[in-house]
Amino acid sequence: MNNDLLLRPLTPADDAAYRALWVEAMTRHAQSFSTSLSDAPDPGIPTQYTDDSFTLGAFLGDHLAGIASLQRDTDERLRHKALVSRVFVRTGTEGSGLGKTLIRELILRAEAISELRQLYLKVLASNERAQRLYASLGFRGYAREPDAVRFGERFVDEIQMLRFLRREPRQQ
Ligand SMILES: CC(C)(COP(=O)(O)OP(=O)(O)OC[C@H]1O[C@@H](n2cnc3c(N)ncnc32)[C@H](O)[C@@H]1OP(=O)(O)O)[C@@H](O)C(=O)NCCC(=O)NCCS
Repeated sequence: MNNDLLLRPLTPADDAAYRALWVEAMTRHAQSFSTSLSDAPDPGIPTQYTDDSFTLGAFLGDHLAGIASLQRDTDERLRHKALVSRVFVRTGTEGSGLGKTLIRELILRAEAISELRQLYLKVLASNERAQRLYASLGFRGYAREPDAVRFGERFVDEIQMLRFLRREPRQQ
């Protein structure tokens, strides 16, 4: 990857840059997501600024070029899990390894969170690029919901994926 690449959690000062990138994701890559701007009209940073609720940014020079959010579940019996969401790299940078670098860093940071055991996410079955990215970093699909998302007259399946962190899952 480019030497000018910087990966770091976003702060409130990054909110304007985040908004611009997320609006781009929602408008230019609408077919890649199950959510739309009308579902969540506020396109600002969706997480807190803590160790287990954060949004990681990939900066190329001064420009925010990639984003991915991690949100740990808060219920007592679900706190071993965290959701990965809102993954996007700026139009024109796809295929350059940025997405993989970003998610690899997100996993490393997740592994540092005490008693966090697994990451989970949802991806549209039509989004092969994202599926390959996640699979190449150890996520595996464990369920497929038929016709999960509706785009006008077209229905698309959704794949649920998970990745265990340091510890192996308990044998059943
Ligand atoms: C999905 C996305 C984040 C991937 O990021 P990226 O920077 O393009 O991906 P990378 O270059 O890091 O490649 C990661 C993996 O994706 C796969 N990939 C990359 N380009 C691909 C292409 N053109 N076609 C199919 N798979 C591709 C490869 O398996 C690659 O792994 P490898 O290098 O070990 O072969 C990015 O393309 C994106 O923002 N897409 C639109 C929004 C989106 O789909 N978000 C995810 C919603 S769940």
